[in-house]
Amino acid sequence: MAKPSIQRKHPQPLYCNPDHYSIALNAYNQQTQHPEILAKWTEEEFDSNVVKVLSEKFGDKLDDQPLRVLGVGSGEGNQETLQLMKLKTKFSRIYATVIEPSTERISKYQEMVQKCSDIAGIEYKWHNQTFQEFVRSIEPEQKYHFITIVRAMYYVGKVEETVKKLYELLEPGGMIFMVIQADSGMSLLAKTFPRLAVEDTPTSTTESYEVKTNYLITSTDVKPVLSKYQIDYTQSSYEISSDLTTCFTQDEMTPATNLLLDFITMTVKFQESVPDKIFNQVMDFIKRNSRVKKGDQGDDKYYFDTECDILVISK
Ligand SMILES: C[S@@+](CC[C@H](N)C(=O)[O-])C[C@H]1O[C@@H](n2cnc3c(N)ncnc32)[C@H](O)[C@@H]1O
Repeated sequence: MAKPSIQRKHPQPLYCNPDHYSIALNAYNQQTQHPEILAKWTEEEFDSNVVKVLSEKFGDKLDDQPLRVLGVGSGEGNQETLQLMKLKTKFSRIYATVIEPSTERISKYQEMVQKCSDIAGIEYKWHNQTFQEFVRSIEPEQKYHFITIVRAMYYVGKVEETVKKLYELLEPGGMIFMVIQADSGMSLLAKTFPRLAVEDTPTSTTESYEVKTNYLITSTDVKPVLSKYQIDYTQSSYEISSDLTTCFTQDEMTPATNLLLDFITMTVKFQESVPDKIFNQVMDFIKRNSRVKKGDQGDDKYYFDTECDILVISK
């Protein structure tokens, strides 16, 4: 697809613009059905992989104490709520600590909790802040039986430090549930073009710069840290597919495709803001790394796949 000639602004990492991040994430979620795929995994596998194990470890040891759950980067709480509902089948009292820096997202989570009649027995503590801020503010002896970090490892700091901190926050016998990309699709793109949107970003702060760099974190970075500290884990995988056919078959991109590309490239208004040369290189990369499938009319369809890993880490 030829890039229209328009006045170019400086490319901005998506994470420096929380409003646009939310819109692009919603477009990505809608097109890829990522939340639904994960929800299906939770429905089918969470009981045997997590609830059963935690119940065997803590079921009769908590007496009247609640199971302490920590959510990191909980977003609007959709995935976390599914997990809490599953845990509630075995633990009558749950104390859920929620960390989410986006005021808009945590408010949506709170609204959902207010409307939800199934949450009796779950007490919430809300932290509208980053994981890094939370860690600086808690008592050293504070521990959790279950920590869930779904699609948020990219934003919380350096891998080894984060894994060590999460493990330190875990009660012996506890579990961390981590969903993170593997080295494919989006993360491969980010690794191939690491400076896509970090240069000339006047509004970016030092922390935002790090956030962009941290976006390269994948399960391939986490697993050696787990091995180094002899931390046990199990792994499951699933695939997320973005249909980018229109990028390669139509002259103009639709607003929805533009938002999808913004999320895939982690760049605000990717098409408008990056230089032509980079735009063409990135689109070429995406095309070369897409799975091509024949459509109903015998036409080529381009699917850009990203593999995600679920790491269930035990202490
Ligand atoms: C891809 S979303 C995932 C949301 C949710 N876990 C889910 O799967 O639906 C990543 C979330 O991490 C949050 N986040 C970003 N930076 C963070 C930080 N430093 N500490 C904790 N959460 C962060 C974002 O606001 C966003 O809600």
